[in-house]
Amino acid sequence: MTHLLHRAIHAKLPVAVRGEGIRLFDAEGKAYIDASGGAAVSCLGHTHLDVLAALHAQLDRMAYAHTGFFTTEAAERLADRLVADAPDGLDHVYLVSGGSEAVEAALKMARQYFVEKGEPQRRHIIARRQSYHGNTLGALAAGGNEWRRAQFRPLLVETHHIDPCFAYRLQQAGESDADYAARAAAQLEAKILDLGSDQVIAFVAETVVGATAGAVPPVADYLKRVRAICDKYGVLLILDEVMCGMGRTGTLHACEQDGVIPDLMTIAKGLGGGYQPVGAVLLSSAIFRAFAEGSGFFQHGHTYMGHPMAAAAGLAVQDVIRRDGLLENVVSMGDYLERCLVERLGNHHHVGDIRGRGLFRAVELVADRTTKSPFDPGLKLNARIKKEAMARGLMVYPMGGTIDGQRGDHVLLAPPFILGREDVDQIVERLGDAVDAAIASLTEDARMQNRGTPP
Ligand SMILES: Cc1ncc(COP(=O)(O)O)c(C=O)c1O
Repeated sequence: MTHLLHRAIHAKLPVAVRGEGIRLFDAEGKAYIDASGGAAVSCLGHTHLDVLAALHAQLDRMAYAHTGFFTTEAAERLADRLVADAPDGLDHVYLVSGGSEAVEAALKMARQYFVEKGEPQRRHIIARRQSYHGNTLGALAAGGNEWRRAQFRPLLVETHHIDPCFAYRLQQAGESDADYAARAAAQLEAKILDLGSDQVIAFVAETVVGATAGAVPPVADYLKRVRAICDKYGVLLILDEVMCGMGRTGTLHACEQDGVIPDLMTIAKGLGGGYQPVGAVLLSSAIFRAFAEGSGFFQHGHTYMGHPMAAAAGLAVQDVIRRDGLLENVVSMGDYLERCLVERLGNHHHVGDIRGRGLFRAVELVADRTTKSPFDPGLKLNARIKKEAMARGLMVYPMGGTIDGQRGDHVLLAPPFILGREDVDQIVERLGDAVDAAIASLTEDARMQNRGTPP
């Protein structure tokens, strides 16, 4: 009997009692390799002593001071650090408590920017299908996952969606990467012109799509083209790096690999590595100046924004990543993980695609490799894989609706940056076995059903 409203009311969850390195342990003493960092959160694994020490020290000094009354050393130092490491021109930070809050703040910042600038007619947000930006109403409206949006649609602000840049699903046979990137980006220009070239506030995109489509990186110069289109029409570019940022893809910010700098960037998850709930918006000097020289404030705020404990955790996590050269490990272990996945699953009858960057990888499952047709969503293959993986002591992040919010299954991997080759070997071995077992269970279920059907 529980009084918690759990995510899934009828699910029977093990009780997590302890973490150590890349593993979590349940109350029965069973160990789970955390190959997804929960939901791409635990970049340093669990119970990292340096982070714990920083948190203890902050707690001993002061747990909380409201940002309406004070600034704090922890928040100032984290902001200094984030700006020092940010792409050129992103020179201010707004600290919040998670990804959805960061996206909400970025959307409102973008709108207020145009009000400050004397362009209050700009009111449209453009985003992409098969993206996820959070579950609060503004972020959910920006997100393009039909399943997540459907029942809340009457409450969502109007947001316009274009196709994602999703090579495996949307690049045509024979189409070059460059041509596909141009075609995908052209949808943005068409949408801006359709809505009115002076009516659009911002285009929002995950640099590498995470939860809803499974580690989908942009193709060729897609993001550069998007940047140029935004500039042409004075539209702000918001890159949501809540999941793919802070080192997950091998560079601190995923967009570094695409040579693109957004006007606003949202980060969370790996920022605090799960040691505290923390997120942030990095904003450009132009946006900051518009506020500073205009109304003098950003009309927003939360009770826990800039929380000293959250800031101390973020700073400690980022310090460890830098001190221990962990981004290099993300690159080398990411390459190794990809090689192992290809070796184990590359020729699997039901694996259509293996993709991603750094330690952000996904495997897309298909019923038929040639036609890329998905499994029947009713079979819940992704949930079966999760169950089989958990039974084998492996946490991965499988999801359905990869193609359109309904159809398609993928498994996302986002292990801690501290893992080594043997850890990767174990992850891939257990994942391979879980995929095989889940698919075998489909056949077994079908056989049992046929047996039960009267002749
Ligand atoms: C890209 C992206 N943006 C925003 C969010 C929302 O973050 P949170 O769950 O911390 O509110 C997520 C969460 O998965 C995400 O992946």
